[in-house]
Amino acid sequence: MSDPSPITAADEPTPASVVLGIETSCDETAASVVIGGRLVRSSVVSSQVDLHARYGGVVPEIASRAHLDLLVPVVAEAMVEAGVEGPDVDAVAATHGPGLIGALLVGVSHAKALALVWDKPFVAVNHLEAHLYASFLEEPDLDMPVVVLLVSGGHTLLARLESTTDIRLIGSTVDDSVGEAYDKVARMLGLGYPGGPAIDRLAPSGTPQVRFPRPMLRQGLDFSFSGLKSAVERYLAATPGAQPADVAAAFVEACMEVLISKCRAAIKEYPVSSLVIVGGVAASPQLRAAATELCADLGIELCLPPVKWSTDNGAMIGLATWDYLANGITNTLEPVPGLGMEAF
Ligand code: KG4
Ligand code: ZN
Repeated sequence: MSDPSPITAADEPTPASVVLGIETSCDETAASVVIGGRLVRSSVVSSQVDLHARYGGVVPEIASRAHLDLLVPVVAEAMVEAGVEGPDVDAVAATHGPGLIGALLVGVSHAKALALVWDKPFVAVNHLEAHLYASFLEEPDLDMPVVVLLVSGGHTLLARLESTTDIRLIGSTVDDSVGEAYDKVARMLGLGYPGGPAIDRLAPSGTPQVRFPRPMLRQGLDFSFSGLKSAVERYLAATPGAQPADVAAAFVEACMEVLISKCRAAIKEYPVSSLVIVGGVAASPQLRAAATELCADLGIELCLPPVKWSTDNGAMIGLATWDYLANGITNTLEPVPGLGMEAF
């Protein structure tokens, strides 16, 4: 939760300045009140990790049902913490894709119902784009263009942003996302779900004893992680006694080399003065350290969201909504499970 401060007159005059943002695309039920596109007045995230942990990953139907149970209290808490009531809200926004269809439907339906009752616009927000806005919290006046690396549970991609509404995809995974690889490898190592933080904690105490493949390392700006995942699986099967910390260290080493060298190649091809890294895997201390080193080497700025806003949250939805409204976008009403960056 960000530091709430009272609404001041200065916050009030802009139309649609109080936004309720709702996020239910995967396994976090989240809501946030954002003022003026910058001030996060409340951010409530209810994680379903405990519900999914025993299955080793997100079970879509369980996620949808949990969102149904949790969303009303989460929204209520966000509104109370922000000190706003229905009539104070100028727009209601929700992630409409990409994500799990049932999970998306819960958030979109709820947001549309609130918008209807309060007679306010409904804004359907692209989840991938919203991740970007969490990083702009730290650097609201970032000079464009920038190269963005988005690393989440569902996506791994590189984009070049001319502006927040002109996003060009320049690289993408051809199979799994890096977050999925973290989650699957954590499962193989018996570390449970979610895998990213568990691997992060274990890897520093290990030493790589094997060099896992770096798929597509020198092949353009696209990524591939399924071969790396399978290589870990084969290594574990062939190496009884392998220490989980050593395997985690070798896996993280491979991921970092791929992610960082792709960023380096993207910046070489599309010279920019900043690299922005967003999505759940941006919470990784190893990635943060490696990216810091890369940007120092290239003499460019690194823009990262605060760790707590790297993973899914409602604040990024509320923050993104500001630009949508500024560009008159309040039109899309249906969830789009396969939504990609090409929408921009
Ligand atoms: O962005 P996100 O919260 O949800 C999606 O939009 O997918 O990303 C979730 C992914 C999961 O794969 C999770 O294991 C990974 O982000 N993740 C991490 C860390 N925290 C979450 N990966 C590495 N290090 C972390 N600290
Ligand atoms: Zn996400």
